[in-house]
Amino acid sequence: MYKISVAGTGYVGLVAGVCFAEVGHHVTCVDIDENKVQSMKQGISPIFEVGLEELMRKNYEAGRLHYTTDYASAYKEADAIFIGVGTPEQPDGSANLSYIATAARQIAENIEKDCLVVVKSTVPVGTNDKVEQFIKDFLVHDVKVEVASNPEFLAQGTAVYDTLHAKRIIIGTESKWAKDILMKIYEPFHLPIVSVTRRSAEMIKYASNDFLALKISYMNDIANLCELVGADIQDVAKGMSFDERIGAKFLNAGIGYGGSCFPKDTKALEYLARQNGYELRTVKAAIDVNTDQKTILFKKASRRLITFHGLKVAVLGLTFKPGTDDLREAPSLENVPLLLEQGAEIYAYDPVGINNFKRKYPEGRNGRGTIRYVNKPEEALSEANVCFIFTEWGEIKAVKPAEYKKYMRTPLVYDGRNIYEIDVMKDAGVEYCSVGRK
Ligand SMILES: NC(=O)c1ccc[n+]([C@@H]2O[C@H](COP(=O)([O-])OP(=O)(O)OC[C@H]3O[C@@H](n4cnc5c(N)ncnc54)[C@H](O)[C@@H]3O)[C@@H](O)[C@H]2O)c1
Repeated sequence: MYKISVAGTGYVGLVAGVCFAEVGHHVTCVDIDENKVQSMKQGISPIFEVGLEELMRKNYEAGRLHYTTDYASAYKEADAIFIGVGTPEQPDGSANLSYIATAARQIAENIEKDCLVVVKSTVPVGTNDKVEQFIKDFLVHDVKVEVASNPEFLAQGTAVYDTLHAKRIIIGTESKWAKDILMKIYEPFHLPIVSVTRRSAEMIKYASNDFLALKISYMNDIANLCELVGADIQDVAKGMSFDERIGAKFLNAGIGYGGSCFPKDTKALEYLARQNGYELRTVKAAIDVNTDQKTILFKKASRRLITFHGLKVAVLGLTFKPGTDDLREAPSLENVPLLLEQGAEIYAYDPVGINNFKRKYPEGRNGRGTIRYVNKPEEALSEANVCFIFTEWGEIKAVKPAEYKKYMRTPLVYDGRNIYEIDVMKDAGVEYCSVGRK
């Protein structure tokens, strides 16, 4: 078993660290955020992920899992250091690699024995080469150090399951030494391993994410056309799904993709292509479709209503998808400001995302409008003039069509996740508008 340190305790770093400990490695999770480290030491996860806190507690108590801000001592003795820090989008679409550079420098200045550095963060092709050179340039002790790519494919909401049951582990390195260490680290997981060059590994990550984003945008594009020509996107998707070449997943139309990955990873790959004199037209199209899709229901509702001023608007779902408290690039963040600008009185419900949303939009007056947070969908719906569904949480799907009619002042529902059957909503007396269906 290896002595592993993980830089960054976000969705990727923390889940990886906990799962490495779960299979028996000795893991130290490092973060620069003192609050996060303090809460993890008390067994509280800084992120919401099913099953994570149980594994954190179990492995912490077993003495295999530690948390610290003291990166110097965490890196000093490590056999392998995984980098899982953020690579957020910059205004020009490129990936911000400053967190990677800081972590690399901290590693270079503190390792005191031979060490494999593994980049788990999503980084543009060629970054691993630079990280290796950067670490060698700043190295303080005379030790062997190599960098390998090991991109992460977990999905938020199912991060622990996805890590323990990953469809494949991608190992990107041209070095036998690095490959052997990574193979041994992953051996206890008993998962398929694909071994490629560093640059191919980096590209596999972007190509995979961007393909999924493209699939979503394609279905949304077709959904919009379905509305114009009188077809039903759900029937269309069902008919398509029997073809194994197409597959049955990621065929749901809606108000577009969000989250911390697809939006930035599409833009970063498009940027990388441009830097190399190539126009990546397919990915560009996926980005364009998604940008418009996020506010498609707001635009429809705006055509139906004179104004949102003074209207009570129920917002069901704030996070970018169910199962996570992450708001990054969530459709709610596009639509709520548009509603507030017009003076709407928003009543928002989300089972786990409220605290994070409150940091951006505090309870009470926000510009011309107001926002209140409620603990149950029916509290949001009560006396509402209009309802927007942005996230398909189980708690929201459980609201029966008749309840919209019962609680709302005017049962006008814009469903961005196509949760309900059109006929059932109609029969319940709800004026219902979804995506790609009439
Ligand atoms: N979130 C996902 O679903 C997902 C999936 C696959 C890949 N990725 C990629 O993984 C990377 C991390 O994503 P995330 O969502 O986990 O990020 P995150 O923002 O949730 O977490 C990053 C963490 O790194 C910490 N950090 C920053 N600099 C540090 C340093 N020098 N040393 C130690 N800690 C430091 C931050 O405090 C933060 O806690 C990104 O490149 C992302 O694209 C994310």
